[in-house]
Amino acid sequence: MKDFLSITDLSKEEIKEVWSMANKLKSNPYNELLKGKNILLLFEKPSTRTRVSFEVGINQMGGNPIYMDASTSQLSRGESIEDTGHTLERYVDMIVARVYRHEDLIKLAMNFSKPVINALSDLEHPAQILADYYTINEKFGKVEGLKLAFIGDGQNNVATSLILGAAILGVKIVIASPPKYQPKQAIIGLAEEIRKGTVEVTEDPIKAVSDADVVYTDVFTSMGQEKEKEERIKAFLPKYQVNDELLSKAPKHTLFMHCLPAHYGEEVTKEVIYGPKSIVFDQAENRLHVQKGLLLKMFKISLK
Ligand code: CP
Ligand code: NVA
Repeated sequence: MKDFLSITDLSKEEIKEVWSMANKLKSNPYNELLKGKNILLLFEKPSTRTRVSFEVGINQMGGNPIYMDASTSQLSRGESIEDTGHTLERYVDMIVARVYRHEDLIKLAMNFSKPVINALSDLEHPAQILADYYTINEKFGKVEGLKLAFIGDGQNNVATSLILGAAILGVKIVIASPPKYQPKQAIIGLAEEIRKGTVEVTEDPIKAVSDADVVYTDVFTSMGQEKEKEERIKAFLPKYQVNDELLSKAPKHTLFMHCLPAHYGEEVTKEVIYGPKSIVFDQAENRLHVQKGLLLKMFKISLK
């Protein structure tokens, strides 16, 4: 595997390998394993966590991160992805890319001979989910057999990677969304192909959280969908907001996660984000440790 474009690009064993490196890097953050490596962060969309955690992680391992906002590159003036990839492979050792269209990421990977990591596309957010299941594993001591309830836009990048990741790792996942925003059959089919009985879909968020170990939500309107915002708010509110009332229907031990940024008063309330069940900032921190493990894995560098 050259690239990490989808969570399905790693097997369960490989994910656990990345997590085990992340554990070591969490207690011992600095090394020189990426010395001499130049890694391009090519972003078409805004970012706080992904950009900074990759930049810091690369720095902590002696590598050199180079941030390029796509809107200030020649891509914005029409240079093709093909020419861009073939040029960049002469300079850098890896590209971490955040794009609108997942197809563009695939095209970039096909025209760049070295690894490409998906830092979020309209289809998936695998670096996020790799870290999220690590966080769940850290909190519960396991992931297999746990149940995760995702409330909100069941078609977005985070939901899709959570569904596929659940299938790989043996997590049970229930998606609570209005019919129009439920996961596409192709994604459910792919998850069921990886592991039968992984995905449950419902319109009822109360039922979804009733036996969940983890309740997860993400924005109703993802980056690039701003024009649909009003329509989406109408479809999701008030039923699909994760607030104290909805969380009171979950078991006592249930934890709450959100990839962030949060939109208060929409998919979640401030009380929940700062409430006793929330692990959102531990979740954000783990992006750093897990992505460092991922970088080593992609470079085939082992950590003693
Ligand atoms: N969760 C996440 O990817 O955040 P950013 O958009 O800030 O990178
Ligand atoms: N689904 C969100 C995730 C942000 C990290 C988006 O794509 O905007």
